[in-house]
Amino acid sequence: MSTRNNPRNNLQLPQVRRAGQTSRRDPWWLQPSVVFVGLFLFIVYSTWAALQNEHYHFSGGGAGAKSEHRADYLSPFYAPVLLTDASNVEEADERGKAPPGMAWLGEKPGWWPWWIPFSPAFLILWAPGGFRLTCYYYRGAYYKAFWGDPPACAVGEPSFRGGNYRGEHSMPLILQNIHRYFMYLAVLFIFFLGYEAWRAMWFISPEGQKSFGIGMGTLVLTVNVILLGGYTFGCHSLRHVIGGVKDNLSKAPARKKCYDCVSCLNRQHMLWAWMSLIWVGFSDVYIRLVSMGVWTDFRIL
Ligand code: FES
Repeated sequence: MSTRNNPRNNLQLPQVRRAGQTSRRDPWWLQPSVVFVGLFLFIVYSTWAALQNEHYHFSGGGAGAKSEHRADYLSPFYAPVLLTDASNVEEADERGKAPPGMAWLGEKPGWWPWWIPFSPAFLILWAPGGFRLTCYYYRGAYYKAFWGDPPACAVGEPSFRGGNYRGEHSMPLILQNIHRYFMYLAVLFIFFLGYEAWRAMWFISPEGQKSFGIGMGTLVLTVNVILLGGYTFGCHSLRHVIGGVKDNLSKAPARKKCYDCVSCLNRQHMLWAWMSLIWVGFSDVYIRLVSMGVWTDFRIL
């Protein structure tokens, strides 16, 4: 049989498949399913935690070394606190809120509309949230997991999009290009969270003296900023800003070094994305439960 007459060679392109139709035999549905469950749980938990407006701050003693000393831990979902609705330190400590002296702009203003629920988390979470939502890795992951576009390579797509669908070339997905601007804010947040990890290393004695200490909360917040730093500093947009814009990078050795560092983190961007997502959620859970008295903060030093 000649090559031309062999039906195997008469494939017509593009191949149109029904939604989910594929000749793949591997469990291609597993990864999008895990991504769906992971992101769904995180979105539900973080929204709930942001709405609580209490038990996001812990100021108290623990167990082990320096158990009488007061630690000061702030949940990364609420850092930095711009406004607080606690009117004094006692109320703040009792309900796990930031005291007025800790909030950058002080107390919630009296003109705050009664119909807008107040939480310091909502004043800041849009920045790291927008950064993650528009991340190149997450875009690919949730396009597959949430609306099957496509569900996986070589798997048929649903046809709900209509003939004019142009993906990220037109509205609304073209707005994903805002990622490069969210990146600048996200870098700033790494410094805020680094400062919170630093504050978590200083305990106050019953006599009011500040001294260096390490509690479980210190470790939780330090690991949190390391993982978020690994995710943020491996961003594709940052990589472009650092070195991608340069034609002859080898002529700028310092810049080349930074570019190599970002590239190194970028190679494992997906891993950093998931580790930092899980840990930032766990950090909030830890501080919430310690603040509620369910867990006791163990002091190592
Ligand atoms: S590409 Fe993922 S954080 Fe920028």
